[in-house]
Amino acid sequence: MPSSKVLLDRDFAIGTTDRRLFGAFVEHLGRCVYGGIYEPDHPSADERGFRGDVLKLVRELGPTIVRYPGGNFVSGYDWEDGVGPVEKRPRRLDLAWQSIEPNTFGTNEFMDWCRLANVEPMLAVNLGTRGPDAARRLVEYCNHPGGTTLSDLRREHGWPEPHDVKFWCLGNEMDGPWQMERKTPVEYGRVATEAAKMMKMVDPSIELAVCGSSARTMPTFGEWERIVLEHTFDHVEYISLHTYLNNYAEDTAAFLASPDLMDSFIEEVVAIADAVAAERRSSKRIMLSFDEWNVWYRTRRGDTRVREGWPVAPPILEEVYTMEDALAFGGACIALLNHADRVRAACLAQLVNAIAPIMTQTGGAAWRQTIFWPFADFANLGHGKVLRTQIDCPTYSATYYDPRGKEDLYFPLPEVPYLKLAAIHGDDTLTLFALNRHLDEPMRINVSARGFSELALERAQTLHNGDLRAANTQDDPDRVRPEALQGVEIRGSELVATLPAASWTVLRMRAR
Ligand code: AHR
Repeated sequence: MPSSKVLLDRDFAIGTTDRRLFGAFVEHLGRCVYGGIYEPDHPSADERGFRGDVLKLVRELGPTIVRYPGGNFVSGYDWEDGVGPVEKRPRRLDLAWQSIEPNTFGTNEFMDWCRLANVEPMLAVNLGTRGPDAARRLVEYCNHPGGTTLSDLRREHGWPEPHDVKFWCLGNEMDGPWQMERKTPVEYGRVATEAAKMMKMVDPSIELAVCGSSARTMPTFGEWERIVLEHTFDHVEYISLHTYLNNYAEDTAAFLASPDLMDSFIEEVVAIADAVAAERRSSKRIMLSFDEWNVWYRTRRGDTRVREGWPVAPPILEEVYTMEDALAFGGACIALLNHADRVRAACLAQLVNAIAPIMTQTGGAAWRQTIFWPFADFANLGHGKVLRTQIDCPTYSATYYDPRGKEDLYFPLPEVPYLKLAAIHGDDTLTLFALNRHLDEPMRINVSARGFSELALERAQTLHNGDLRAANTQDDPDRVRPEALQGVEIRGSELVATLPAASWTVLRMRAR
């Protein structure tokens, strides 16, 4: 059996997790909003039309912040369409997802839903078909207390108190050819700067994220970040990153190695942001907002992406996640935790139905996909000081395939440790998140937790299934779910456990 040695020290920390690291994303896309979080005719819906069964699962999942309303959708969205009397709201063509947008759910409904879900709102403004003027008006509508036309309009609409939205995204994926009114880095840098200035003139307390590349595979990655930050550096707090992991190549070992490329991506963006700071002799540090991440590939193309005939809320991007996906996904959670010093916000894309941990049947049941489990562990147990770990374990090599448009890209990963791990020191807890990437063999781990004298096991849970293609469905919603891990031994500050082959494990200890 392969074995690993893990050494950590209570006093050696990478950083403390920001509450916003555990976010998710709700876009007007397919059945994420309509038939997902909002379905007035559903038996569990409240008087505002919010599905109670979905809200219950969202609270269990534990996201802390939710990005809205897109995504690609936001680049053609007129926010004014989604406020005011519902019967007067226009139906529009949504060009991003080739659907009809009925606008019966908009900004104010989203704010109410956030309060019920106990999450902070993260709003994106349209810097595609609209621009700085529409953006500053939306900030005024949302955040100004009253006494101006726009803030009084919000009050007339039924929301007397300001929404006080703190976190704003300056557009979405503005480098992507698929984006409405895509821009060059110089065009976007200029527009984002002017939007940022005006939005902060309205409310200086807000924080802003500028768009980074829509993927590390984009041909302009690197240059885009540099030019955009050279324009916006003085006006923003964050730059965004997006990654969707895939297993198009049907190479599980490479798929499970792919979260290591998220580590590289984060470190590269940090280097570029800090190089821009260095050129200005600035001590300011731009933080990272990894505001779209997930596994997504099966429904990325063809008729699972858009449906003909301009439907309302079509069932698109309804990726059914497997055990294998949950493992790659868990690796992504570990990559985010291990960069808690610079990744200060992150959003699982998305929350319900469209590439989501929660699935629903319109008019029917709601259930947890396989990826629900690692996210719930991450969001509920991942808060605290992330400790540095030294891991001594066997490695393997893999080549990860990532298509970029019509081009295929191959990323060789010569040294992939079989064990990927993050260690979190909470108030009086020590939590380990561990991914055993060995597909055939269990792994024995020996953890030396220096500085912790009396560890006591509180929870040992593992997610694994002999069938890596196993998925949860409406008929079999609990096929993949965590179970107790037996045989964990603790003596003082030493822990020994055996992780099943191809598994995601959480070990939580009381730590004095
Ligand atoms: O999350 C699905 C889509 O992926 C988003 O709308 C877009 O930003 C990204 O390309």
